[in-house]
Amino acid sequence: MGLANQILELLYDRQGGFFALEELVRATDADHAKVEEALVELTQRGHRFERSPAHGVRLMRPTVMDAHLIERNLSVEHIGRYVLCFNEVDSTNDIAFSSISQAAGQALVVTAEYQRAGRGRLGRKWFSPSGSAVLASVLLHRQASELPHEALTLAAGLSVAEGIEKSTGVTSTLDWPNDVVIGESKLAGVLVEVRGKEVVIGFGINIFSSPPAGKLSRRATCLAKELGGISSLERIEILRTVLGRMDWWVSALRDGLTDELHDLWCSRCGMVNRRIHIQSSGNRFTGRVIDVSPLEGLVVLNDNGQRLYFPAATSTIVK
Ligand code: BTN
Repeated sequence: MGLANQILELLYDRQGGFFALEELVRATDADHAKVEEALVELTQRGHRFERSPAHGVRLMRPTVMDAHLIERNLSVEHIGRYVLCFNEVDSTNDIAFSSISQAAGQALVVTAEYQRAGRGRLGRKWFSPSGSAVLASVLLHRQASELPHEALTLAAGLSVAEGIEKSTGVTSTLDWPNDVVIGESKLAGVLVEVRGKEVVIGFGINIFSSPPAGKLSRRATCLAKELGGISSLERIEILRTVLGRMDWWVSALRDGLTDELHDLWCSRCGMVNRRIHIQSSGNRFTGRVIDVSPLEGLVVLNDNGQRLYFPAATSTIVK
């Protein structure tokens, strides 16, 4: 491991605490000049430090998204083994699709601090102020991309909700097909896109602020607000936990555990029995939600007592 990453790990693990420069020199076996060079390199990677003559140096939080810290000891099999972090891109989903050759068959994750042209489902825009969210796209491994699209769509939203809960304790519910919500407000959104044989799962989680009113199709919230203004949230840890859950669900789906997906998804879903209007392939339908199927989509009973199935890729709930 390079010196810069070694120092980054030491400072990051101190969770905002100071490290005396002497201590860094001793822990890394490098001299003062090399330690200073490494700190400059880390600054160029976007990290911010505070210096104190009495206490040394500390890594300012929240930490910028960093590939090394995201990949470090991440125990995943199918996704998240190769991470690329950008400051500003059009859309992380586009970067994931166009980095296929760079990923060389590995499961790739792309993050950005800011997206100029973030996309939501069904042609909507997705906007987050710079550095305020987890914006990430996962390029699925070939075997994972062969899993049923409907099941992947549900598993992606569930992974985000589970990852958030595991890393922060914040419980959320799911609105079909994969909006992560608290009460009536959206906390995170997921966009699964397919190009040829490649599948990318993109997700945006509002962490420090939510998009301004008018930028979204529904009211939004963020984790800091849900936690009463706490700003010590570490986006890297939230992303790592989400990737861990996504990896687990990809394995589970490969092992055919669609019943588990159904049960856990439905336990977070507040839509069952709700009367809804839904637009699908150019037509509008009305009925009562009776189930969510990991293979066939939203199951609705219409007023004539017919069971209708709506796939996520072509259907959207309308007000
Ligand atoms: C939705 O709720 O409509 C889906 C929103 C998905 C947004 C994420 S942010 C990272 C990735 N890149 C994009 O352009 N979109 C997804």
